[in-house]
Amino acid sequence: MQTERIKVDLELARPLLENYNRGELTLIALLLGVQDLYYYLPREAVEFIARETGVPISVIYSLATFYSAISLEPKGRNHIRCCVGTACMVRGSMFVLDDLKRELGIGPGEVTEDGAFSLEEVHCLGACALGPVITKRDKFYGHVTKSKVREVIGALRKADREGV
Ligand code: FES
Repeated sequence: MQTERIKVDLELARPLLENYNRGELTLIALLLGVQDLYYYLPREAVEFIARETGVPISVIYSLATFYSAISLEPKGRNHIRCCVGTACMVRGSMFVLDDLKRELGIGPGEVTEDGAFSLEEVHCLGACALGPVITKRDKFYGHVTKSKVREVIGALRKADREGV
C-alpha cells in the first residue's frame, strides 16, 4: 500500500537554510539535511530551497537526481533496503525479501500507511560476504534469516513507537 504524502512543515528546514545562506553548508549538505527532516526531498521543499537560496530549481533537481543518497520519493522513517544481488541471492535473499514483504505488509517501492517503514530492493550493498544483507540507513544486518527479519523489524517497530 502507498501512504499519502507526508505533511511537509517547511519551517523545519529554515535553520538549515540559514546555515547555507551564511556559507556554513554546501548545497549537497543542505539537501541531505532537509531530506533527514522529511525522510525524502519533497517537491515543496525543493521549491522552498530554490526560493530561499536563489539556487535555480533545475540545479537542485540535477543534484538530487545525480546523488543516489537523495530520494525524491517518499520513504518511511525506517527505510529498509534488501539486497537481491547475486551473492545474496544464492544465500536466499529472495526468501528474506518475501519475509520482509509479509512482515511489513508492503512491497518494494512502497511505504506503510503509518509512514514507519518503506522497502527497497537493491542489487548490491557492497557487503557480499555478509549475505543475505538488509540495511536500515547506514546500519547493516548480515546473514539474515526469517527469525532475524522478525527480530529486526520488531525492534525497529518498538523504537519507532517509542520515538527513539
Ligand atoms: S550481493 Fe548483496 S551485498 Fe553484494
